[in-house]
Amino acid sequence: MKTIDLRSDTVTLPSQEIRDAISNAKLGDDVFQEDPNVNLLESEAALIAGKEAALLVPSGTMGNLISFLVHCQRGTEAILGNKSHTFVYEAGGISAMGGIHSHQLQNSDEGMIDIDLIKNAIRKDNVHFPVTSLISLENTHNMCYGSPVSKDYIDEVATIAKNNKLKLHIDGARIFNATVKLNIELKKLIEHVDSVTFCLSKGLACPIGSVICGTQEFINQARRMRKVLGGGMRQAGIIASAGLVAFKNMNNQISLDHDNAQKLADGINQIDDLSIDYDKVKTNILYFKLKSNSISSEQFLSEMNAKGVLFFEVSPNKYRLVTHYGITKEDIDYTLNTFKKVLSK
Ligand SMILES: Cc1ncc(COP(=O)(O)O)c(C=O)c1O
Repeated sequence: MKTIDLRSDTVTLPSQEIRDAISNAKLGDDVFQEDPNVNLLESEAALIAGKEAALLVPSGTMGNLISFLVHCQRGTEAILGNKSHTFVYEAGGISAMGGIHSHQLQNSDEGMIDIDLIKNAIRKDNVHFPVTSLISLENTHNMCYGSPVSKDYIDEVATIAKNNKLKLHIDGARIFNATVKLNIELKKLIEHVDSVTFCLSKGLACPIGSVICGTQEFINQARRMRKVLGGGMRQAGIIASAGLVAFKNMNNQISLDHDNAQKLADGINQIDDLSIDYDKVKTNILYFKLKSNSISSEQFLSEMNAKGVLFFEVSPNKYRLVTHYGITKEDIDYTLNTFKKVLSK
């Protein structure tokens, strides 16, 4: 029986093309900046993002942490969403490692933060307050239905940041899901942003790795900070060579993932015992609920698991499904039929 793993797009296994690229990669020591594939990946990433430079890091969590540590002094404050990955799921790293005070504001279901809330959260110059140094957005927004965040909104926040001499960072773990959905080039989407982190290991289906992009000066400091955190890697071309393959193929795969998520949403919408905020499904992440009490969540999950369909209950009666490389249209049909079977008992 095939396992249909809809827990996350981090579970993707590499394609044969990626495996071949990894095994044939010419390697060097990347701490000496001598790995040809890492150098190429970083220059291609900078080009795609429209920034001066880029840096390969082991994970999205480290990419965000390094960005915050470079932008913020100890004891200063970063404004971010209350549902942002950095605030909720990164083990409090910005405060543990950087002494950065987080000022979390309400995220809307669309992954944004109200503009007036942001303006009002910026601290006045007063000895009682921490100094505000950074605003951070997430795009697409994982916990907010995988919503893509528009260029108009990002530009508005960037203007506020600039007027207040703050930096603007984007956690773009899934930013290519946003560019595909919004039909915009990455460099255009983030042209007024200071730094972005994006992941190779999610929709791009690579085994490891994330990339930070920004000015050359920012990346120089980020490289030093990566070393501080023990993230300097040696023959990292085995990671970068996979990323280079992904850059070629990503848009097609991500479009398929979005189509599959939409097909899943259409099907769930037709199942009486399930409810879904159908209009909120925009990219590869969808959330749904059980309508009736006829089955407990433990039983629901375990019966679905036993039939080979894996997914998470992220909070009570809130289930998340994520489509990705390796999930086919047939898998979606199987998943929908399995929901019907399990719920019709
Ligand atoms: C929005 C977002 N940011 C950052 C991360 C962290 O990435 P990593 O798991 O590579 O540390 C994730 C991981 O799921 C994520 O969803």
